[in-house]
Amino acid sequence: MIIVSFASSTGNTAKAASWIVSQLEEPHVIIPPEQLTAADLNRAAALLAGTYTWGNGEIPDAAMPLAELASSRTFPELVTGIFGTGDQGFPFFCGAVDRLAGIFQQTTRLAVTLKMEQAPQPGDWERCRLFVKKVQARRQQTSGARHL
Ligand SMILES: Cc1cc2nc3c(=O)[nH]c(=O)nc-3n(C[C@H](O)[C@H](O)[C@H](O)COP(=O)(O)O)c2cc1C
Repeated sequence: MIIVSFASSTGNTAKAASWIVSQLEEPHVIIPPEQLTAADLNRAAALLAGTYTWGNGEIPDAAMPLAELASSRTFPELVTGIFGTGDQGFPFFCGAVDRLAGIFQQTTRLAVTLKMEQAPQPGDWERCRLFVKKVQARRQQTSGARHL
């Protein structure tokens, strides 16, 4: 099971999430960040986490549960991908993606990050496809390693 969990205030990150979800070829569930638990992550094959950016490159409150969960313990088997939307007019474009990735890098098997400018544009479709492929590739590496 793949878990998709994202925060979106005006819909851009939600649209990105829907593009990513439409590329998934296996069962998945969408769980809002505030409802996500460590037990969910222990059961999941992968977590695709999305966020917009707030303040000055900050993680918005709505996505903080993702940061708190991932920094509360390690999930050594969990493959993760972080995606987000932002505005290149701000000094720290998609800073929340970088901040989440910094945490997930420490406690999960972070496979890939993806930053998109505001609402995803047609050119982002291929980037969303590659995002999903990178997560899948990392999972194959993970399961291969377990059988050695
Ligand atoms: C008050 C405010 C602060 C923002 N700060 C940043 C920022 O620091 N970096 C960035 O890349 N985008 C920033 N943004 C842009 C949003 O992250 C961007 O519009 C995003 O696509 C919104 O996603 P959503 O529609 O999913 O809520 C800011 C937007 C607002 C309104």
